Amino acid sequence: MSDSPEIEHLTIVTHPMVQHKLTLMREEETSTAKFRQLLREISQLLAYEITRNMEMTTKRIKTPMEEMDAPVLDGKKLALISILRAGNGLMDGILELVPAARVGFVGLYRDEETLQPVQYYFKVPESLGDRLVIAVDPMLATGNSSVAAIDLLKKAGATNIRFLCLLAAPEGVARMKEAHPDVPIVTASLDSHLNEQGYIVPGLGDAGDRMFGTK
Ligand code: URA
Repeated sequence: MSDSPEIEHLTIVTHPMVQHKLTLMREEETSTAKFRQLLREISQLLAYEITRNMEMTTKRIKTPMEEMDAPVLDGKKLALISILRAGNGLMDGILELVPAARVGFVGLYRDEETLQPVQYYFKVPESLGDRLVIAVDPMLATGNSSVAAIDLLKKAGATNIRFLCLLAAPEGVARMKEAHPDVPIVTASLDSHLNEQGYIVPGLGDAGDRMFGTK
């Protein structure tokens, strides 16, 4: 997708600004306010990468000097889908970059007996099949909820989906690749592994708790 390395369907954004901000986010003494601000900033840099090859057309415009065919985005507005609740932390920054985007939400919780994701909320823009759909969730850990969210988006008609996350674990990337090989993933880091509780290591802890100040 760019100068950042692509490992099959995974792009890791190695830009120094992204990596520096990510380090600050990982540090446990980083405050909620700072974490939120960094997430907003980094989300824009990741969104810049994931929208890099959006379709373009030209429009005839007149500058103060002369007429020209100038590049503009083609097609319907993109759909940004937040996987609740942590996905919301990525949305604000991305919407500053793509203010006309349509927005949707997928809510999933984990059934403690079956350990499978269960849908509790689903609201997405119309005509998903005609849009570039970007699903966002900061942590691609086991991949269970991401895979389930993308299943739901495909059921709703989406055909051109990309997945944006802050951190990914190899287990989650493998799970996504197996279930949805057509969905490219953009992330700031591929971390080492998941621990027994399903947390990404070295990671940054619980992304939702850190961005909302909960425990
Ligand atoms: N969700 C989080 O918030 N953090 C992890 O490390 C894994 C899943």
